Amino acid sequence: MTVQNNGMDVMTAIFQRRSVRHFLDAPVDRKIIMESLRAASWAPSGLNNQPWRFALIWDGELKEQLAKLTRYAAVLRGAAVLIPVFLDKEASYDHIKDVQAVGAAVQNLLLALHSKGLGAAWIGEILKNQERVLDVLDLPERLQLMAVVAVGHPAHRNQSSHRQSLEELIIFEK
Ligand SMILES: Cc1cc2nc3c(=O)[nH]c(=O)nc-3n(C[C@H](O)[C@H](O)[C@H](O)COP(=O)(O)O)c2cc1C
Repeated sequence: MTVQNNGMDVMTAIFQRRSVRHFLDAPVDRKIIMESLRAASWAPSGLNNQPWRFALIWDGELKEQLAKLTRYAAVLRGAAVLIPVFLDKEASYDHIKDVQAVGAAVQNLLLALHSKGLGAAWIGEILKNQERVLDVLDLPERLQLMAVVAVGHPAHRNQSSHRQSLEELIIFEK
């Protein structure tokens, strides 16, 4: 595998990345999306079963149909591209581990997009309508929706977030 040295230090990307929910009305380079999906596909998975599958939605009408399925409609409408991420049940061997692996792929995707200067939001709220997402995209039942990642050029970088301290998070050390 070839690694291009044009990204960002991984710790910088982890600490700088924020969920971006407001985007410029500007197209994104498909090559950056494909490179970021390649990063997603290099996530770890149990038995290396790679249960993740991705859809790419550039079409405005399809975006609108998906936007109607979530209260984060404005985020989906404003994105240059939507990336629904699925777990392929036919590739699955252990549901919990497969869901974890798809989560790792989504995080790789978010970090890669950030390192390339793009912004993204992980939209989970739309999962309440996962069957309707499959209908809109005319995709088979064996695909279980895990997230829709909304991607675009950030309209601003004012996002702030917070995390609990390590003292609260580490519950055992001996
Ligand atoms: C499983 C999951 C589901 C999420 N669903 C949504 C969502 O539906 N809408 C949204 O705006 N953000 C969603 N987020 C993003 C979180 O709100 C965000 O990651 C969290 O507030 C921390 O902010 P940060 O990403 O800027 O660090 C989701 C994140 C995860 C991991």
